[in-house]
Amino acid sequence: MDKNLATKQLAELKEKLEKYGYHYYVLDTPIVPDQEYDRLLHELLEIEELYPDLVTDDSPSVRVGGAPLPHFTKVDHRNPMMSLGNAFNEQDLRDFDRRVRQFAGESPVTYICELKIDGLAVSLTYSDGKLVRGATRGDGTTGEDITSNLKTVSAVPLRLKTQVDLEVRGEAYMPKRSFEALNQAKKEAGEEPFANPRNAAAGSLRQLDPKIAAKRNLSLFVYSIGELKGKEIDSHYEGLSFLKESGFKVNQETTRCETIEEVINYTEKWIEKRHDLAYETDGIVIKVDSLDLQKEMGFTAKSPRWATAYKFPAEEVVTKLLDIELNIGRTGVVTPTAVLEPVAVAGTTVKRASLHNEDLIREKDVKLGDSVVVKKAGDIIPEVVNVLVDLRTGDEKDFHMPTHCPECNSELVRIEGEVALRCINPECPAQIREGLIHFVSRTAMNIDGLGEKVITQLFAHQLIGNVADLYTLNRDELLRLERMGEKSVDNLLQSIEASKTNSLERVLFGLGIRFIGSKAARTLAQQFQTIDLLKNVTKEDLIAVDEIGEKMADSIVSYFEKPEVHDLLEQLKQAGLNMVYTGPQPVALAAGSSDSAVAGKTVVLTGKLEQLSRDEAKEQLERLGCKVTGSVSKKTDLLIAGADAGSKRSKAEELNIEIWDEDRLMQELNQG
Ligand code: IVH
Repeated sequence: MDKNLATKQLAELKEKLEKYGYHYYVLDTPIVPDQEYDRLLHELLEIEELYPDLVTDDSPSVRVGGAPLPHFTKVDHRNPMMSLGNAFNEQDLRDFDRRVRQFAGESPVTYICELKIDGLAVSLTYSDGKLVRGATRGDGTTGEDITSNLKTVSAVPLRLKTQVDLEVRGEAYMPKRSFEALNQAKKEAGEEPFANPRNAAAGSLRQLDPKIAAKRNLSLFVYSIGELKGKEIDSHYEGLSFLKESGFKVNQETTRCETIEEVINYTEKWIEKRHDLAYETDGIVIKVDSLDLQKEMGFTAKSPRWATAYKFPAEEVVTKLLDIELNIGRTGVVTPTAVLEPVAVAGTTVKRASLHNEDLIREKDVKLGDSVVVKKAGDIIPEVVNVLVDLRTGDEKDFHMPTHCPECNSELVRIEGEVALRCINPECPAQIREGLIHFVSRTAMNIDGLGEKVITQLFAHQLIGNVADLYTLNRDELLRLERMGEKSVDNLLQSIEASKTNSLERVLFGLGIRFIGSKAARTLAQQFQTIDLLKNVTKEDLIAVDEIGEKMADSIVSYFEKPEVHDLLEQLKQAGLNMVYTGPQPVALAAGSSDSAVAGKTVVLTGKLEQLSRDEAKEQLERLGCKVTGSVSKKTDLLIAGADAGSKRSKAEELNIEIWDEDRLMQELNQG
């Protein structure tokens, strides 16, 4: 393709992608199938790879994330990003109204009520309609430049519909579904999950590698104008309309109220309805609409007098802990679960809450029969917050973890370095059942009509003993089960049949190989394409793959070494399961490879670093392909010594190991 043609095609692709992206991410009403969008993006990336000088700052390819940063730079906000005063009840709202009306005198007052989105406040600066900077709020005066991360958020327009100079504020957030999926993946990879969507959003935007932020499915609602040149705006509502017309995502639940009664009604409506939203909100923001009145009222030291934030009542409730049940997961981990007197929390009835492990039960001093405070962590996962010791009657009973598996009676073990107790009997029925539930789950084989209940039923009737048995179920035996009519049996068989054509990553994830979450499964499937190739790879082949670490590699190798796994795969093949990757091929630009001088080296960090934190340095080095370890030994290739490095430095000198100072490190990172 010659350059002229490339320029023309890029312009066309860009226009289409912008339009489709706007409908999908901003208006929430897609106008083309996802595959079409992906296909066009792929085409654009290929052309841009051929002609890198044609890549512009506002190309949709920036959504996949550019090069990692060594650290974030600080930015000063031209106008401070204030916070809001709080209202916790009706009285507080009426007091607010009285203060506003005192300022307004005889003039009527209009309020704008908005949902208070629970995420991270950010500022976006546009020059001539082009996004030039994105920053966190920080302390309100100084934030951090996170432009490259914010560019990956598809709801952030890279170019506006009008060529204005504008600074706009909004809330970056992670939708509930993305949050759940992310935490699920984290758990499967053995990582610590995020406590709530807000932390997840903040954590994602504070990553130095924009490719990580790009994968986190963040979104953004804008809610105010910081600065706008060359356009007169009289009211907050008019400002929001202007933002919407410019291409921003503005929350559609926003409403106008003429009286404080209407405001109170609105807050009451959302106390209930907020649980139906796709994102978290923690309150309602009430703003005076007239910008003249806003100006007149002005600010206190920290917040505007013309706005307030009504906070939803904390959703913590007291209930009785009736029992502690033990659940055995598919990896054999025994999780104690509190059985509660059913109670309504944050829109749903809670009957159970995780107690995580025995240490936590001791720490919180939980006894059977206790009155406990329950809340939903991040308003999603029920959790026992604490015990109300004062309400004890003396009838409460101590709880002790069993020494043997309640399901198969084999002795439970506590693996060194882990808090969890584990049943290590591979034949344990509970583990097998959980493994089956995992196999059919939405992120794995996604078999409709096969949930936990049906699997438990099939397993109890010994119709299935492993995942391959799902594919030999016949209509007659299914019809004999309780609550299974002709229609549901036919639908079920059809969904099972349909799952045979799933792409390899679903099967791979479904098999439940330790440490292999859905993301790693996809990476492996993309990399090796067929199960036959994958089952013969070596640990070295695996580690060479981006995002596959040593723990995962060991787990895969030992999994495929088992003869029973070979039998199972054979059975699945016989049943007609597809074992080939059929999803989109990896996007060339998104794959981070490293030709850095330090790639493959074992590196130790010591001393104080000035320009980035130890964790950031570690992350960056790993990205360049280094193994970062904690202590200096003969195996160490390189020591990075910050200020006041002590014994590690002397030891490295003794062993004649190469030593770099921070500047040398930064030079390498900047090159990378
Ligand atoms: S207006 C000066 N509107 O709540 C007024 N804030 O303490 C600035 N927030 O840091 C804020 N949704 O992160 C406003 N619709 C909304 C909001 C909102 C969420 C956050 C924002 C701010 C905090 C206020």
